[in-house]
Amino acid sequence: MSCEPKLHILLTRQQIEEAVNRLAAEVRGDYQLKYPLLIGVLKGSFMFMADLIRRLDFPLEVEFIRLSSYGQNRQSSGRIKVVQGLRSKVKDRDVLVVEDIVDTGLTTSFLLDYLQKKKPASLKLCALTDKPSRRQISVTIDYLGFTISNNFIVGYGLDWDEKFRNLPDIYTLE
Ligand code: IMP
Ligand code: MG
Repeated sequence: MSCEPKLHILLTRQQIEEAVNRLAAEVRGDYQLKYPLLIGVLKGSFMFMADLIRRLDFPLEVEFIRLSSYGQNRQSSGRIKVVQGLRSKVKDRDVLVVEDIVDTGLTTSFLLDYLQKKKPASLKLCALTDKPSRRQISVTIDYLGFTISNNFIVGYGLDWDEKFRNLPDIYTLE
């Protein structure tokens, strides 16, 4: 018996590319003279980060942080831990967090609090997707790709049980 879920296309690679182009233009306007520190949240943001920064033609630094994740469960536990931390100093830097998705908001809000305590010069959030219907804690998204409805999505870095991260388009799971 197969229990592989069915995939339905939600965002094509062309739609994603247009959104990333638009976000890169916005980020460029605000950060081109600031030598920002972009912090990607592993693992889901790696593809988005790679596409975003190759469109940013000014000096910047890239870091990744890994937080405890959902595992096979589709619900956030709300208990978040830093599993792999940062090497760059955050103090006095202009920091831009790069997220794949803001769902309940628990992960992102934990991370923003965690970074704020390190006293950055500024701290903003860039998220490819937002699922506002599931929000449990308010999060301000400064640069947003797509607002999506309450579906579990995979592809373009996003996984279900570690699968489907490699898909170039974004799909909903049935
Ligand atoms: P939150 O803490 O509920 O906002 O969820 C944050 C993390 O849960 C994201 O960074 C993703 O890793 C994961 N996540 C939430 N929704 C989805 C989804 O629809 N597909 C894949 N991962 C998701
Ligand atoms: Mg994530």
